[in-house]
Amino acid sequence: MRSLLNAAAVADLAGQRVDWRFKGLPATWAGLTVAQICAEAPDLFDAGPLGPVCVLHDTALQHNLSTMAAWCARHAVELAPHGKTHMSPQLLARQFEAGACAVTAATISQVRTYRAFGVREVLLANELVDAAGLAWLAAELDGDPGFRLTCWVDSVRGVTLMTDALRAAGAVRPVDVCVEVGAAGTRTGCRDDVVADEVAAAVVASPRLRLVGVAGYEAALGHDVSDAGVARIRDYLLWVRAVATRLAPLCADMVVTAGGSTHFDLVAETLTGPWRTILRSGAYLTNDDGLYLRTSPLTRPGAGPGGLVPAMQVFAQVCSRPEPGLALVTMGRRDVSFDQDLPLPQHLRAGSTWTDLSGCEAVKLNDQHAFLRLSPPADDLVEVGSWIAFGVSHPCTVFDKWQLIPVLDEHCRVVDLVRTFF
Ligand SMILES: Cc1ncc(COP(=O)(O)O)c(C=O)c1O
Repeated sequence: MRSLLNAAAVADLAGQRVDWRFKGLPATWAGLTVAQICAEAPDLFDAGPLGPVCVLHDTALQHNLSTMAAWCARHAVELAPHGKTHMSPQLLARQFEAGACAVTAATISQVRTYRAFGVREVLLANELVDAAGLAWLAAELDGDPGFRLTCWVDSVRGVTLMTDALRAAGAVRPVDVCVEVGAAGTRTGCRDDVVADEVAAAVVASPRLRLVGVAGYEAALGHDVSDAGVARIRDYLLWVRAVATRLAPLCADMVVTAGGSTHFDLVAETLTGPWRTILRSGAYLTNDDGLYLRTSPLTRPGAGPGGLVPAMQVFAQVCSRPEPGLALVTMGRRDVSFDQDLPLPQHLRAGSTWTDLSGCEAVKLNDQHAFLRLSPPADDLVEVGSWIAFGVSHPCTVFDKWQLIPVLDEHCRVVDLVRTFF
């Protein structure tokens, strides 16, 4: 099988030394390499984490990788997971092993990061109109015949800027592009058929570009899974399909791409056809205990058993109990997401076991503290010094706060340390 990244470059990350640069990790690991630490599979708590510390759960990651791969195979779609979610070549390598066909990126800088690890199949789910980015891309494409990248266009001016910049850079290989269509009031993307057709015609006329398909992003319309929300998303996706059907005769090796981690079922339902249909879900890898738990087709109410499971938590310590019913925890906006929901207190560590923490809710986060409201029985159990495990909502905005994340087995032993590059 064609290798989609440079496995040796990813393996080299195990040689990096752990020190004060990586927050949360035990000070006792200072000077050791990732490989040395993981060879011992130390218990994270025995090693003394300097909390808060974000962790990933290995069994849950593996379950989500295989569950999503099986789902995609059953629904005749491919998966180019969004790499901006984790910005981790190690996690991407696991996604490739599970059958992902490419990585998706949001910016040319993210493409550069993944290229540093030899990634050869990239969807840049965005317009790329800056000359410096295009010059860099041209050099990458011309320097590596095995590298393929597809980006998006939504204006004739964008097509002209791309063409001029690629010509000025002396590009030899054309850049593959999809025409992006976006619903009114959302974000990028042609707003109607007339513009989509004009942009497609401009691409076909460009000697430096190649039209390969049509792209959309249904979650620009939101994550609403009510009947009304689903109807809106379906209408939008049916329009993407209509545009794809009309432009198909102009496209080489046609691709139709859409799909975050909420409505990928509707993408499969509406967009498979006489082309490659590529999802770009990223959050499926960890899923979560908030937004995606509520909205993923593989976890939301009614989803049935065997779906995705949460694979990310943040552990933090209670540092103060200044009033009855209130606990302050050493975890704030610098450490955990708060854009969708506040973190969810789940378990209290007692000895080496975890007890359920119902009756406890995060009500506020400031930079470095979480405010927990406690009612019985949590109010009687939580003490200064207690460790609490929190579920998160929206993994993308947790990953970007951590540079080296322990991956744990079911016994809290560290089996890997995952480097991110934000
Ligand atoms: C264009 C695009 N495609 C795919 C995704 C992945 O969606 P999710 O984060 O729900 O997995 C995103 C996420 O923001 C996106 O912006």
